[in-house]
Amino acid sequence: MIDLNGRVAIVTGAGGGLGRSHALLLASRGAKVVVNDLGSGAQTVVDEIHAAGGQARAVQCSVADAGAVQAMVDAVLADWGRIDILVNNAGILRDKSFAKMGLDDFRLVVDVHLMGSANCTKAVWNAMREQNYGRVVMTTSCSGLYGNFGQANYAAAKMGLVGLMQTLGIEGEKHNIRVNCLAPTGKTKMMEGILPDAQLSKFKPELVSPAVLALVSEQAPNRAILSAGAGGFELVHIAMTQGIELGESASAEAILQRWNELADRTNAIVPSTGFEQAQHELKKGGFEV
Ligand SMILES: NC(=O)c1ccc[n+]([C@@H]2O[C@H](COP(=O)([O-])OP(=O)(O)OC[C@H]3O[C@@H](n4cnc5c(N)ncnc54)[C@H](O)[C@@H]3O)[C@@H](O)[C@H]2O)c1
Repeated sequence: MIDLNGRVAIVTGAGGGLGRSHALLLASRGAKVVVNDLGSGAQTVVDEIHAAGGQARAVQCSVADAGAVQAMVDAVLADWGRIDILVNNAGILRDKSFAKMGLDDFRLVVDVHLMGSANCTKAVWNAMREQNYGRVVMTTSCSGLYGNFGQANYAAAKMGLVGLMQTLGIEGEKHNIRVNCLAPTGKTKMMEGILPDAQLSKFKPELVSPAVLALVSEQAPNRAILSAGAGGFELVHIAMTQGIELGESASAEAILQRWNELADRTNAIVPSTGFEQAQHELKKGGFEV
């Protein structure tokens, strides 16, 4: 059993939807939970946690407001002494085809998802380093990982979170801070009208939250992208094909001519750092690495 007694967790956007379900699960395992939300739902979820015998407090603020986020974190540290877990979950949609999308809607979505997660993570990062323990979850999306019509702003922000996770996972490792991504599918307000009701009803939020619990446990992996929905769980990898070697005679025409060979996924590799891409190319070219 994963026991979170003594742990303090912040779950953003936890006044409803998936965040609520994550907060309830973490509290049921003994964590003191900060239920953050822009809306008043945060207090309702805190009341639910209290009614079930758990410990929680509500903080109503926007994750996009770095000052308010810092004040939330400072207050939690002052009262509860530590922050072990941060689940960056808060989010919004402003869907439109890119042709019709205003840059104001693009910025807003990036501000909430990407900057909001950066604000919250930055605010807890030093405390996690100092206590030599931290578990951070970024909520990405299949929309960013694979693309979805009408979600250019959201997809860009969600893929930005994968990059943030990859680098923070590397930087946090020596301080026992593990950073992972969750790619969920859940029946929430956000998903209304996106999938047919009969299908959507299978995606219960409480079937996603076990993935979060796994990612914030002591045994958590580092730098995983875990997808979860309807009781299914998968790992997502950013992979690179073995590719081709054109050497000094490299040309656009040759790239296109050998596209199928270049795209062949046999023996595809998942580099563990960005540097490995360059090393792979040097090795293929017969250079020493
Ligand atoms: N539901 C899905 O299938 C799905 C799929 C992929 C990714 N996601 C992601 O999962 C997360 C949760 O989504 P959900 O489906 O539960 O959505 P939801 O709309 O039900 O819940 C999101 C919550 O975030 C809060 N919120 C919005 N802006 C905020 C802000 N600036 N500061 C603080 N709180 C804010 C909202 O008030 C709401 O309570 C989001 O990041 C979403 O992008 C959801």
